Amino acid sequence: MPRAKSARRQQIERAVLYPLDWLEERSGLIGGVKYFIFRKVPQDIGWPQTLGSATLTAFIVQAVTGAILAMYYKPHPETAYESIRYITNDLTLGWLVRGMHRWGASVFIILMFFHMARVFLYGAYKYPRELNWIIGVLLLALGMFEGFTGYLLPWDQTSYWASVVGININGTAPFLGPFLAQFLQGGAEIGADTISRFYALHMLLLPGALFALIGLHLYLVIRLGVTSPPWSPEAAGRDRAEVAPTTNGRAGLVRPGSRGGLTRTGVRK
Ligand code: HEM
Repeated sequence: MPRAKSARRQQIERAVLYPLDWLEERSGLIGGVKYFIFRKVPQDIGWPQTLGSATLTAFIVQAVTGAILAMYYKPHPETAYESIRYITNDLTLGWLVRGMHRWGASVFIILMFFHMARVFLYGAYKYPRELNWIIGVLLLALGMFEGFTGYLLPWDQTSYWASVVGININGTAPFLGPFLAQFLQGGAEIGADTISRFYALHMLLLPGALFALIGLHLYLVIRLGVTSPPWSPEAAGRDRAEVAPTTNGRAGLVRPGSRGGLTRTGVRK
């Protein structure tokens, strides 16, 4: 027989549940979070399918460390380099935050490529996930543009000349090139206006667009479900549970007409 809960325990439970119920009644958020956590995913997904979440984690690290750096960075040719020097050498743990942001940028881009390779090799870009692939391509482009605009900000020799080269390369594009170079430069030469422009792009416009697109990307991942590996019975439209009794555990034999838990398009019912 279940033991009666002590009055203290009941009190604690009420204290936890009341605010949750309050929020759920007014927003439905708790139900949404529950759906997200307990949603069904194919049985045979593994480490390769964690690369998207790893990319997301790298992005969050960039957002948090970037917000801290923005509190001390001063975007002007006369102050930028000195503020970076101050963050690196004098600010408590500044070297760590800056190092995480600088190296994290590469980690973010590399993980994005690995994630994209996983999606490509598993054929997870096919119907009905083409739109999510297109959003992914936009994320990749914006992510790399984010890296480009961040590179100028320390305003040292490497960053200055790398940006000169980058802007000039953009300038060689047909038709739009000169306008693009002019837009990036912000004035007659690379200087105060360029830093302001790159800074605004780097910490306002591009992260905002990335946030919005990542939200859309994840919404579609939840709506469409994660793709099974191409070799799995689920990808062929069968649940493992169904395969076991009919094939003695051997996968690959598909009973015609059975699509075990999946619709014709592979989307979970
Ligand atoms: C900011 C960068 C990105 C983040 C945070 C992100 C995040 C995620 C997450 C968490 C998932 C679900 C788990 C997984 O499949 O790993 C996912 C799936 C997916 N991603 Fe990304 N992603 C990013 C970039 C990209 C890129 C560059 C592409 C391709 C060009 C892409 C295409 C897809 C597709 C098609 C799926 C569905 C995969 C499936 O159904 O198995 N994503 N993404």
